[in-house]
Amino acid sequence: MTERTRCGDFRKEQIGEDVRLNGWVQTNRDHGGVVFLDVRDRYGLVQVVVHPDTPDVHALAHSLRQQDVVEVSGEVIARDAEAINPKLPTGEIEIKASSIVVQNRAETPPFSIDDDCNAGEQHRLEYRYLDLRRPLMQNNMMLRHKVIHAARNYLDQQDFLEVETPILNKSTPEGARDYLVPSRVYPGSFYALPQSPQIFKQLLMVAGMDRYYQIARCFRDEDLRADRQPEFTQVDIEMSFVSQDDVMAKAEGLIAAMFEAGLGVKSGMPFPRITYQESMDKYGLDRPDVRFGLEHVDVTDLMKTVDFKVFRGPADNGGLVKVIRVPEGASKLSRKQIDNYTKFVSIYGAKGLAYIKVNDVADVPGGLQSPIVKNLSEEVLKALLERCGAENGDLLFFGADTKEVVNNALGYLRVELGKDLDLFDVSDNQFVWVVDFPMFEWDAENKRLQALHHPFTAPYDADLDKLETAPLDMCSQAYDLVWNGTEIGGGSIRIHDTEVQARILKALDISEEEARLKFGFLLDALKYGAPPHGGLAFGLDRVLALMVGAESIRDVIAFPKTQKAADPMSDAPSEVADSQWKELGLKKRRTVV
Ligand code: AMO
Ligand code: AMP
Repeated sequence: MTERTRCGDFRKEQIGEDVRLNGWVQTNRDHGGVVFLDVRDRYGLVQVVVHPDTPDVHALAHSLRQQDVVEVSGEVIARDAEAINPKLPTGEIEIKASSIVVQNRAETPPFSIDDDCNAGEQHRLEYRYLDLRRPLMQNNMMLRHKVIHAARNYLDQQDFLEVETPILNKSTPEGARDYLVPSRVYPGSFYALPQSPQIFKQLLMVAGMDRYYQIARCFRDEDLRADRQPEFTQVDIEMSFVSQDDVMAKAEGLIAAMFEAGLGVKSGMPFPRITYQESMDKYGLDRPDVRFGLEHVDVTDLMKTVDFKVFRGPADNGGLVKVIRVPEGASKLSRKQIDNYTKFVSIYGAKGLAYIKVNDVADVPGGLQSPIVKNLSEEVLKALLERCGAENGDLLFFGADTKEVVNNALGYLRVELGKDLDLFDVSDNQFVWVVDFPMFEWDAENKRLQALHHPFTAPYDADLDKLETAPLDMCSQAYDLVWNGTEIGGGSIRIHDTEVQARILKALDISEEEARLKFGFLLDALKYGAPPHGGLAFGLDRVLALMVGAESIRDVIAFPKTQKAADPMSDAPSEVADSQWKELGLKKRRTVV
């Protein structure tokens, strides 16, 4: 039998050849007796023609329906000049069928297997195997493969060793909730699925593996969003005897290799760096979208003298008053849009969104249009305009509240304004490293320090003596890589000294007993000649979603979960038999409806 040619691979050089193809019927059209079939496989689509002069084949072709699986044998022929389709790689030829075998019939699919199918996502996930048959999804899967392959290649060339770490683990303190698996052999005990291979990769460094990587599945039981899945994939690396700069350089090489494989373009290296503090000051967020301006301006000091309580209160009480200056905003943004932005910032806890339209900078206060101008003195207004670099036609937005509320509200508002005002080119790709993260943040609810990255992250040596006196002033050797405002990866230099690790855990209010219980094995390992080490993990799904411009990471994952962590296709999670409960030594407290 002739060897199969893939549907997308036919070219005019094959004209005259006898060929065989297999695929799914995409369309079936009868043009005055001649039947035209579009047959598709993962590699593309080809047109098959069936003439009435082969009556059996013709009758069969007539009977074919969308998504039937066929094997077609025939001859490659040139299309008539007017039938050439330049948009299709196979558009210069067609296959004149001499035989067709129906390899399987398909029921009418629940939605059209086409890129412009408008089925809802729930429906698509329920029939994911059909959704994945659409060219767009097949391309996403092929891209995923290519990018993973490029990552492996790069890391292999750099002498990283691929090592698999266990899925059934003891819980790793990474901050999210664990997925637990009950043990049958040890009734009442549970394994935790890894939130990341963090501890194991550190142990591999202690084991002398020097450079490790893994395309690692991670599990986190957290509230889901468009860029979060309960199980997702990291490109995870760890290296021994390195500084931050060494890890960042390898990470740049890695992402550049993935980027080039995925998008066919080189990314400009080295990537710029910004400190956490600068990022918070200018953008309000620790994952800045640096494709456009609209940087925040801090005017807290100016507001310490005003009577206007809305601004004075936060200024006097450790809060913030910040401004976003929108060039030409006075004419570009309508009253209705301003009202919508006011609603938008309320999501982040902002109690309002004061604004000033700058009609004439030289005329203060007459040239300023705003509900708040009356509350501010001429002197403050002038200083404010100067600080913001205001020009005629600008619109100034104000946020006044706690640091957290203002940074979040104006941080997300800035991103929204950037999109609404078309301030960046969607094909622009800007990477930026965020460095010098604080070591700790204050967990107000539990009144304790919390590690910003994870408890194994090393502080700067010079900051270590602040641990007992001013821990919130300490910076860690942690770094995140941000791509167009999305955090795509993060890592740190780790603590390799038992004593330092013990001090950090103490600062985090993790008792020796708790530490021993949770990760005593890591603390022990540090005692046996742990080398200095550090690493990073990229969120593969996020990287891919950015590459294809998908709105959700679900579009680059073959079988993702919904926002509610369910799989509509298999119906996971699901009830299990009473016998399984019993076997696991578990008892139902109540029936869940
Ligand atoms: P971190 O928790 O920052 O670091 O995770 C690294 C990267 O993984 C991606 N990511 C996710 N992607 C999809 N769904 C999720 N729920 C999700 N959570 C995280 C992000 C993130 O930047 N062990 C450390 C890495 C290290 O220190 O080396 C870690 O897991 O893109
Ligand atoms: P009010 O004094 O409450 O009428 O508010 C005057 C203006 O200040 C309105 O435009 C409000 O949207 C705005 N505003 C109120 N609270 C805040 C706040 N915390 N931050 C920024 N603007 C605010």
